[in-house]
Amino acid sequence: MKNVLIVGGGGIGKRHIEGFLRTEKCQLSVCDSDTEKLRQLQIKYPLVSIFENFNSIDIKKFDAVVIATPANLHVEMAKRCCEWKVPFLLEKPLSVTLDGVAELINLRKKENIPCAVGYTRRSIPSFRRFKELAFSGMVGEIKMANFYCGQDYRKYRPDYANIYFSKKTSGGGVLRDFISHFVDLSQWILGNPENGFGLTSNLVFGDTIETDDSAIVIGQFSGKLVSFYCNAFQKPNEFVIDLAGTKGNLKYALATRFLSRILFADDDSGNWKQIDEFHNEIFDYYLFQANEFLNLLEGKPNELTTLEEAAENLRFILKVINNSKI
Ligand SMILES: NC(=O)c1ccc[n+]([C@@H]2O[C@H](COP(=O)([O-])OP(=O)(O)OC[C@H]3O[C@@H](n4cnc5c(N)ncnc54)[C@H](O)[C@@H]3O)[C@@H](O)[C@H]2O)c1
Repeated sequence: MKNVLIVGGGGIGKRHIEGFLRTEKCQLSVCDSDTEKLRQLQIKYPLVSIFENFNSIDIKKFDAVVIATPANLHVEMAKRCCEWKVPFLLEKPLSVTLDGVAELINLRKKENIPCAVGYTRRSIPSFRRFKELAFSGMVGEIKMANFYCGQDYRKYRPDYANIYFSKKTSGGGVLRDFISHFVDLSQWILGNPENGFGLTSNLVFGDTIETDDSAIVIGQFSGKLVSFYCNAFQKPNEFVIDLAGTKGNLKYALATRFLSRILFADDDSGNWKQIDEFHNEIFDYYLFQANEFLNLLEGKPNELTTLEEAAENLRFILKVINNSKI
């Protein structure tokens, strides 16, 4: 059994608790600065120990730490793991500024600590299949990509106005939060993020948040042109990725939250051939990711996002903000 400490027992911390417990290979302890939350977590889950203050925990006792606090706390907590040579899985995004990022990367490299950043989709079978097909040559050379994503975030996170999502300083909003997921997929499938520009707006959420609920970004990834259209207010839950290659197009389409399809077309007949479909992955996202992280701990091959990639992702988002004066 691996002894794992989860830091931050909020919305995603709970998903990590459930994911790691379902691997049946881990026993868990949780740290959260909110005493009442800790008490409820202890009632709900079989936890070994609970803690309120991360800095006073003897983290050497753990095989790994999962950091699921708001993004402005990530770098300092990850540095502490490196200092004590404890492997860690860090929630996305890496941070909200570049402060301390280079130091963290150097420290991790020097101590050779296994670690990853939790851009969940890299662990999910449908996205892995999509990447495999993108790399298979069936569409020729990929030249452009479009990411189209919208959902009513308020339905899935009714507490959205009281969590990290509501503030830029904690990594909230569609640009800093949602789009960073698609930047990660672009890095994985298309290449390195180069230049980027964008527009953001608070179109619907109003005073409930201090950040944006909608964004349009364009960017270049290893020379390929990529666009991201994303909002957190629309009623249908949609997610479509379209890759345009020299021999055809490959599409990832979320038909419902419970069904994803991969489609291919190489002519203008309007007929898209279905290559694959995946059901009910949504229930296992954090189980898949926990297993992938356990692979990393065991030195097995894995597809998880590295600290360096997450730093490039953050640099890209900050470049969009700077270039676009938003
Ligand atoms: N991978 C994904 O798809 C995904 C989805 C949502 C959120 N996230 C990321 O997960 C992180 C957390 O998001 P969330 O939705 O769980 O937020 P949340 O606000 O629901 O939970 C954060 C928790 O951290 C605790 N916390 C704050 N400061 C702390 C400290 N110093 N020590 C210990 N605990 C502390 C809070 O009490 C809270 O319980 C963010 O970085 C967010 O971007 C990832």
